[in-house]
Amino acid sequence: MTVFIPEDKVAEIKHTADIVDIVSEVVLLKKTGKNHLGLCPFHTEKTPSFTVSPDKQIFHCFGCGEGGNVFSFLMKHNGVSFPEAVQMIARRYGIDIPTQSMSIEQKKRFGERERIFSVNKAAMTFFYNNLMNVTAGQKAVNYLQKRGITKEIIEQFRLGYAPGTWDSLLKMLQKKGISHSLAHKTGIIVPRGNGNGYYDRFRDRIIFPIFDRGMQVIGFGGRVMDDSLPKYLNSPETPVYNKSKSLYGLHHAKKECRKTGAVFIVEGYFDLISLVQHGLGNAVATLGTALTSEHVQIIRGLIGKSGKVILVYDSDEAGIKAARRSIEVFEKSFVDAGILVLPTGHDPDSYLFEFGVESFQKAAAGSLGIISFLIESAVKKYGLSIEGKIQTISDLQGPLSAITNSVARSLYIKELAEKTGIDEAAILEKIRTTSVKTAHSGNKWPGHAIDTMVAGHDKTSQDKWKRIEEQIIAMMLQSPGIIPEIRNKKVLDNFESNTLKQIGHLIIEHKDFHVNGDVSNLMACLNDNTQRRIIASLAIGEDIWNDNGCRKLIAQFLNSRNNRKKTLLKEIKAAEDRNDHELLLKLLKEKQILVSRKGISILEFAGGKTL
Ligand code: GTP
Ligand code: MN
Repeated sequence: MTVFIPEDKVAEIKHTADIVDIVSEVVLLKKTGKNHLGLCPFHTEKTPSFTVSPDKQIFHCFGCGEGGNVFSFLMKHNGVSFPEAVQMIARRYGIDIPTQSMSIEQKKRFGERERIFSVNKAAMTFFYNNLMNVTAGQKAVNYLQKRGITKEIIEQFRLGYAPGTWDSLLKMLQKKGISHSLAHKTGIIVPRGNGNGYYDRFRDRIIFPIFDRGMQVIGFGGRVMDDSLPKYLNSPETPVYNKSKSLYGLHHAKKECRKTGAVFIVEGYFDLISLVQHGLGNAVATLGTALTSEHVQIIRGLIGKSGKVILVYDSDEAGIKAARRSIEVFEKSFVDAGILVLPTGHDPDSYLFEFGVESFQKAAAGSLGIISFLIESAVKKYGLSIEGKIQTISDLQGPLSAITNSVARSLYIKELAEKTGIDEAAILEKIRTTSVKTAHSGNKWPGHAIDTMVAGHDKTSQDKWKRIEEQIIAMMLQSPGIIPEIRNKKVLDNFESNTLKQIGHLIIEHKDFHVNGDVSNLMACLNDNTQRRIIASLAIGEDIWNDNGCRKLIAQFLNSRNNRKKTLLKEIKAAEDRNDHELLLKLLKEKQILVSRKGISILEFAGGKTL
């Protein structure tokens, strides 16, 4: 895997990176003791169990079991390969990765994503230069000025202009030696219908580059400057651009969201830019899609678990539609959300320019929670006649039954009862008729799921051994000084769990670790996810092991194992005498596990009997 990037480079990059830094980009972390704690980005949880250790440079989630070092974090979180994760960190810390030593083939394989990013970046610069420097761009500058966009905002968001010809971008790409097939993958050029060459996707449009969190250009939006259609043209989805995971303005909003613990979600490019220009930096825009749970997951990482999302819509209908659609998404992520509907005819952009930011903020402060908003809207729409009330309750049936938190649900039912004057019990009855879905998959760490479970082998005794074996591995990870003793006493030979045994051997073989105790480095040598997760979970504990404690644990373990061997022999004998075949088989299997490490065959213990 690492063949493309020299080992010493990887080491340098890993050394420079700070895992708390990198994780903080996506998870709001709080310092607790030696570690930092936050909500896990890999599963949905209410109470933080995602732990990052700055000392060990590793992370571990006690909820879902995910764990690893800074590279595994980026790989998992961004769905990228190892070299790409290395590259991301290198870029972040301004470390150069030499690529000249790579063969053409190697270069080609060096992350398609990386190459798409670089083409996108070249295109962004091209559009930006056209807006700023070229006479043809004047028209675009005028348009932006007319809409009140300042020069600072143009800079900040790197707005651009795509010239009106069909091939100006193509020509630039050609000059830079960028192949058409690669440019096509980024979506900025489109194949001609006759199969003969390509043309520029964006022509005579204002360009909005879309950035990811790390300031990589992932796609573009382009707006016409008159009434022609389509008003907006967007990049298609590409290996780096997934609309349901991308938010416009995210790169800019990060800081402000963390500071305010709140985020505005708007629907348009210009809306987002207007909010920023009016000093509301804690805003993002969805990109022509409904809000997804991936979006909310990203946002939650920025605002934390007590943060607030305010969805801003330009009409009741849009708000109601979005509210109904997003209840489950918010419910599942435990994010508090409100809806702000602007007066008819206004979107955030036009509202801000007409009424100013204070008025906007006042309206936002009075925004209703999603369900309250739906209740109010329904009452407003249907009125309080008997028919109207029935219609209101019926409209709310779906949204209310989507709420799994029973306390919240009963509060909303109370609210609905008060607003309509209908008995709570009657509403409850109606809600009950709708099925309640509670899909929640809690995937605890699968540590030993892959261990072969022994038929009939006592579960609790197995748990007991597992616990001690885990302690021993934890000790090896936290006090590497004890490793030689573990090796000399052949402690691992007595392990019941194959997974833990393998991990133990790996630690023993990894000589560097004995000296530097660098857990994160140890992980870099692992391809196995399960092993990595277990190491993270065991290394991140805050136990302190002194020499004495270590030796005691080892002695205790070896003693118990030996004792068990002895008692087992007796039990086997007794079972034989009683002709209890079932028990005998069970005990023999346990014995097999205990002794197979010593090379004694099961037959010797069965006294030569065939089973
Ligand atoms: P302005 O009219 O420039 O103020 O745009 P807006 O920001 O008010 O956008 P509008 O409310 O018309 O649309 C909101 C968002 O929907 C836009 O930012 C686009 O992402 C998307 N959108 C709007 N029109 C189109 C279109 O014609 N095609 C596509 N693909 N998306 C569109
Ligand atoms: Mn608008």
